[in-house]
Amino acid sequence: MSENLFDLRGRVALVTGAASGMGRAMSLALADAGAHVLMVDINAAGAEATAAEARKAGHLATATSCDMTSIPAVDELFARLDRDLGRIDFLGNVAGEAVRGRPEEISLADVQSTIHNLVISRFYCTQQAGRRMLKQGRGSIVSIGSLASITALGRGHIAYSMGMGAVVQMTRELSTEWSARGVRVNAILPAQVVNPGLEKRMAADPTLRDRFLSGIPAGRLGTPDDIKGLALFLASDASSWITGALFPMDGGNLACNAGATMGEHWLL
Ligand SMILES: NC(=O)c1ccc[n+]([C@@H]2O[C@H](COP(=O)([O-])OP(=O)(O)OC[C@H]3O[C@@H](n4cnc5c(N)ncnc54)[C@H](O)[C@@H]3O)[C@@H](O)[C@H]2O)c1
Repeated sequence: MSENLFDLRGRVALVTGAASGMGRAMSLALADAGAHVLMVDINAAGAEATAAEARKAGHLATATSCDMTSIPAVDELFARLDRDLGRIDFLGNVAGEAVRGRPEEISLADVQSTIHNLVISRFYCTQQAGRRMLKQGRGSIVSIGSLASITALGRGHIAYSMGMGAVVQMTRELSTEWSARGVRVNAILPAQVVNPGLEKRMAADPTLRDRFLSGIPAGRLGTPDDIKGLALFLASDASSWITGALFPMDGGNLACNAGATMGEHWLL
């Protein structure tokens, strides 16, 4: 039988934001491929529910609560990882909250907290994981960016876009510094993926869903499960020469010009 390039047995993965959305889906996909996944979230019960789901399916999973914005808490998290699992082969930086506000009005405190969440906290976690991976001579790191990493969204996303732009440059710099020593660093840039926050915003503004869909040639919003294949690919040896890359996960949004005509409408 040929080698399974997607086999993660014997590997240890740490995924943040594992209680919900893309972090949950990523955690379950990696556990399903054989990794022991340390599922981390500020929501302890939610992380435990994801881990319990993986274990019920016969996979290896441990849950722990951690506020990823707290440097001492992240130190404790890695002390636990060292003690209980002894290595780290994959890091998924998924958690990261942002505050929205008009550029002319948003407070510096809100900008600072967003940059702390999306950039400083993720960098610190990545630095901790990277040190360990460099010692091992192997590892893969994936950060969730956004289409706001490389294009502008408007609607009060100024702080979010500045933070997500930095996530992309972090990815490129770390890939450049670490890939020769076996540590690959990539980013996934999703368009709108349905989560509770997005549902709420779409409920408050009934035009929003159609506006999003008008830019998505695939004709639907994303679901958290859409990240499973990419996450597995990037965590596994199937992507062993892939590093420093930005993967749009967007139903074709980024490729589509704002004035483009989608689908069969041109026939009308
Ligand atoms: N959903 C989208 O449309 C979309 C698009 C592009 C990028 N993103 C980004 O992807 C990331 C995940 O989005 P999602 O849709 O999966 O979100 P989600 O709201 O479904 O899940 C986020 C998870 O992160 C956890 N979390 C929040 N703050 C935390 C902290 N300080 N420490 C630990 N855990 C924390 C939450 O408890 C939650 O379980 C976010 O950074 C988001 O900005 C989302």
